[in-house]
Amino acid sequence: MAHPRVDAIVEQARAAVAVAQSSSELEAIRVGVLGRQGSLTQLLRSLGTLPAEERPLVGSAANEAKRELEGLLDARLAATAEAERQAERRRRRLDLTLPGRRPPKGSLHPLTRVHDEIVSVFAGLGFSVAEGPEIESDYHNFEALNIPRDHPARDMQDTLYLSDSTLLRTHTSPVQIRTMLAQKPPVRIIVPGRVYRRDNADATHNPTFHQIEGLYVDQKVTVGDLKGTVEFVFREIMGSDVQIRFRPHYFSYTEPSYEIDFTNSLVKKMGKDWLEIAGCGMVHPQVFETVGYDPEVWTGWAFGFGIERIAMLRYGINDIRLFYENDVRFLKQF
Ligand code: DAH
Repeated sequence: MAHPRVDAIVEQARAAVAVAQSSSELEAIRVGVLGRQGSLTQLLRSLGTLPAEERPLVGSAANEAKRELEGLLDARLAATAEAERQAERRRRRLDLTLPGRRPPKGSLHPLTRVHDEIVSVFAGLGFSVAEGPEIESDYHNFEALNIPRDHPARDMQDTLYLSDSTLLRTHTSPVQIRTMLAQKPPVRIIVPGRVYRRDNADATHNPTFHQIEGLYVDQKVTVGDLKGTVEFVFREIMGSDVQIRFRPHYFSYTEPSYEIDFTNSLVKKMGKDWLEIAGCGMVHPQVFETVGYDPEVWTGWAFGFGIERIAMLRYGINDIRLFYENDVRFLKQF
């Protein structure tokens, strides 16, 4: 039951469907043929204007064509839409084989590295870490260490006072006092920490720097214990070619007192024989009296040195200010 006018529309529609690439093209074809203004819809609507004997022929041919085209478009649309969904899924699929994006990773500051190493060597000898405040009382920083107000030893450390009785601690030694006041002997501590001096910054000075203090109190402790410990620790940190020399010195909280000179191949390379690296001595009996330890029973040694000094030697850094500038080009090298 064909009719040439209907056949023409069907042929055209089939041809268009055959080459359509996407669901939107198919949808456009549907509208063009079967939509309100579509060619087939228009033909059906104009049946009344045809001669009476043609109407049933054209009418039934057009209805048949309408069913056929609806079926054809539905099938193609379903297939195309599914293909499009699959393509979209493929496009979005997570590729687990791609390398991940790594966040940029930082590294430890050279002072932190040296600090951690020193702490771990002392931990191996049974020392624990003690801490104290950076804003310190004049009493702990000076008086209790046998440095009264008018004592010339105060001139050894240019001090930043906050008031008459408080200051920024000039060394880690006040933590010796705090620790002994707080616990009974024996004592085996190291005290890493930040200290302050009224210095102008240059290649070897900075108003803020870091020290490590050591304090060992027990019965029958000798200078030999002190020297052996210091030598062992410096060899652990700086290598087995390290040599140590004790030079008599004065500190008010130790008696006898020494400065520790240090040398190894790095020092020789700098063209020097010895480098002054720490202060130390046997804890002064008066300090024991002050904290309530019996100086007839208890003996001990103490030392203090700068972490920056060690780190500069260790890494061949020639300007102390580099540690504090937070320049990534410097920090990246550690
Ligand atoms: N506190 C001293 C300084 O900052 C270093 C020092 C010397 C610490 C002798 C000590 C010591 O514990 O016994 O220069």
